[in-house]
Order: sequence, then structure tokens, then C-alpha cells
Amino acid sequence: MNTIPQHVAIIMDGNGRWAKKQGFATRIRGHEIGVEALRRAATGAAELGIQFLTVYAFSEENWQRPKAEVDALMTILMTSLRKELGVLQENGIRLNAIGNLAALPSRARRQLDETMEATKGNQRMVLTLALSYGGRQELLDAVRTIATQAASGQIDPQSISEEHIAKALWTSAMPDPDLLIRTSGEQRISNFMLWQISYAELIFLPVLWPDFSKKDLVEALEEYAQRERRIGKTSEQLKQ
Ligand code: IPE
Ligand code: IPE
Ligand code: MG
Repeated sequence: MNTIPQHVAIIMDGNGRWAKKQGFATRIRGHEIGVEALRRAATGAAELGIQFLTVYAFSEENWQRPKAEVDALMTILMTSLRKELGVLQENGIRLNAIGNLAALPSRARRQLDETMEATKGNQRMVLTLALSYGGRQELLDAVRTIATQAASGQIDPQSISEEHIAKALWTSAMPDPDLLIRTSGEQRISNFMLWQISYAELIFLPVLWPDFSKKDLVEALEEYAQRERRIGKTSEQLKQ
């Protein structure tokens, strides 16, 4: 394989359906087992030479779920960060987070800060958790930042460029995703990285997230390698 994407994004979907299919009484078990799938995806991605892996773990809209499920997800987030620190260190993975992090419970935020601090020297891959994340909210935040700069005379509105917008997004420190994978068979974006995925290759897999394996990741990368990313040009131009 010669074209390994630099940045892979994943919408980790299907935990609830997985739990139901397995006969568990609640959806929570699906979220717990989903953490194991994330461990496989993250270590697998690092081994394959991917530099940035960004995963959608909790959307802005997910706050509307029943309180018991939201509480369980926040607890799983905290305990997993603690439990998986060794895996992050052994694999050279630096943890990062994007989203409206101020909305998270303070103990979850503290745990996130601690894990980011502990892994900040790791160089092999950046794993970004999108938490309380919404693409429109991110764009809104960027518009406010830029409007404030314009109002104070720091920038001329006529000179606002794509680079200004990219720099004002929560993802300013990373390249745009080359490949976006969504599991569970749903074929929608659900408010994920709306600006950043404008030219990402999209792959929708029927597998439910807790069943996601390294083989699924490798197969997605194989399909990605077959795609011709023309970005507006003709196939002939690319071959020249
Ligand atoms: C994805 O799985 C995890 C989160 C959104 C937090 P779901 O919980 O959406 O599972 P399904 O889609 O209902 O099966
Ligand atoms: C998207 O999944 C968000 C995450 C995977 C965290 P959802 O299950 O919330 O998306 P919809 O509601 O089916 O679009
Ligand atoms: Mg879902």
C-alpha cells in the first residue's frame, strides 16, 4: 500500500444497536465495548503510519439523550482515559480533544487535561477525541473569533481567507482529514467536521462500532488507496 492517509476521521456509530443485538438490557454495554474497538483502531492506526486519528465520541446533539446514558458515557470517558494511559504511552500516541469541552463535567475535563499533559511528548500519532462536538458550533465559534478581530481593526473583512477560517477552527493544529469512515451503516455526517471534510474520501461500513477490527481499518485504507482524489482536475492531469 503506497497511499497511507495522513489524517483519518471516524464516526464511531452503532454501540446501542450492538448492545441490543447481543441481548444486553441497556445500551451502556455497547459504549463500554466500544472503548475496546477504539483501542484497536488507535493502536492499529499508529502501527499503519497514520499521523492523525480523530474520532467522534460525543456530539453536541448527544446531550439530548436520556440522562442515565449521558452520565454513563461521561463515566466511561473518565475511567477509560485513566485505564488506557499505558496504551497511549506504549504506542507513542498524544491525546488531544476538540469540542465544547467546557460543557463536560469538571472531573472529566480534569482527567482529559491530565491525560493530554501526560502524553504531550508522544510523537507517533495524535488521537483527537471530538467531545460535545458540533461542526456548526465550531464554525459559529470561528465566525465570532474572526468578527471580533475585524471589529477591532485587526483584520480587514475583505482580506478574510480560507486560511483565516481554518486557523480559527478547533482543528487549527491539524491537516484536514483525507479519509472519513462511519460505521453502523448510516450514511450521514451528523454535524462532524463540516468545513474540514470538503475533499475527504468517505467510506461507510455496515459493521457496528464495537465489532470494528484492525482488519476493517486495513480494508478501508485499501479502498482509500484505490480512490482517485482528483480535487477538481481530470484523471489525465493527475497522471501527467
Ligand atoms: C455511537 O453509538 C456512540 C455515541 C453516539 C455516543 P450510538 O450510541 O449512537 O449507537 P446506535 O447508533 O444507537 O446504535
Ligand atoms: C454521531 O452518532 C455522533 C457520534 C458517533 C458520537 P449519532 O448516533 O449521535 O448520530 P445520528 O443521531 O444517528 O445522526
Ligand atoms: Mg448512533
